[in-house]
Amino acid sequence: MLTFDRLTKRFKGNTAVDAVSLTFPKPAMIGIIGASGAGKSTLLRMVNRLSDATEGHVLFEGQDVTALRGGARRAWQGQCAMIFQQFNLVPRMDVVSNVLHGTLNRRSTLATMFNLYPREDIHRAIDILDRLGIAAQAPKRAEALSGGQQQRVAIARALMQDPKIILADEPIASLDPMNAQIVMDALRRIHDEDGRMVIANLHTLDTARRYCDRVIGMREGRVVFDGTPAQLTTGVARDIYGADAGFSEAATSTSIEALDDAGAMLRPAQAAI
Ligand SMILES: Nc1ncnc2c1ncn2[C@@H]1O[C@H](COP(=O)(O)OP(=O)(O)OP(=O)(O)O)[C@@H](O)[C@H]1O
Ligand SMILES: [Mg+2]
Repeated sequence: MLTFDRLTKRFKGNTAVDAVSLTFPKPAMIGIIGASGAGKSTLLRMVNRLSDATEGHVLFEGQDVTALRGGARRAWQGQCAMIFQQFNLVPRMDVVSNVLHGTLNRRSTLATMFNLYPREDIHRAIDILDRLGIAAQAPKRAEALSGGQQQRVAIARALMQDPKIILADEPIASLDPMNAQIVMDALRRIHDEDGRMVIANLHTLDTARRYCDRVIGMREGRVVFDGTPAQLTTGVARDIYGADAGFSEAATSTSIEALDDAGAMLRPAQAAI
């Protein structure tokens, strides 16, 4: 389905992603972990074509994504939606309009200028917000929402594109543990129920272990681990993050597990999505 073939990115002398070859035969929930500067963001950006590969290819269903130009490239970007750590919403615009921005790829400039959205798109946006448990926030300005709610708006905007792949670059890095759990649960559900592929850069081991089917470990631009959460032992993690960096499990934990231990307070929030 999705293949990276010796995918490489160099910035002047620095090789950020170094001949990464991976195959994802079917939609799965994939976590990419690694220390700061390992090349995780650069890798995702090449998949989405926000950044061009220096060498190598991304292949999706037989098509060389790295070679796409113009409209074909934009169509691909509609197929693989991106979610960012800082949500990238328009703060002063209402939530529904932010979600409707997900349809920009297929709308005319004139319709965009005058903020004209087909009625069925508006209904679909509300349905998606409802699915994510935040339909009540629809008329509010994005900036009035909590971080966890804003990230769910960003997910709704991504879903509006009806993408085959969702790329998430540190989607929970700015969130407290409870909101982190809500957002990760939402991504997992989108994978389970819709069969969409989710590839998430994650800065914490426990999140990767808990939510992903497969975890890729990167170090200095290369893949140094590719396996199941069960295979991601503390020893393996130390190798991924670098043993000399004073690695500890606690330093790469979001405390989602600890929150779970704290009791049932999370359950109602979980039930909302
Ligand atoms: N636009 C750029 N110009 C020059 N160098 C860059 C650029 N983007 C990334 N790099 C370099 O590429 C390497 C990989 O960066 P990248 O952002 O992909 O790492 P990362 O794994 O996402 O790190 P983090 O966990 O901090 O987000 C780093 O050495 C970084 O300095
Ligand atoms: Mg990054």
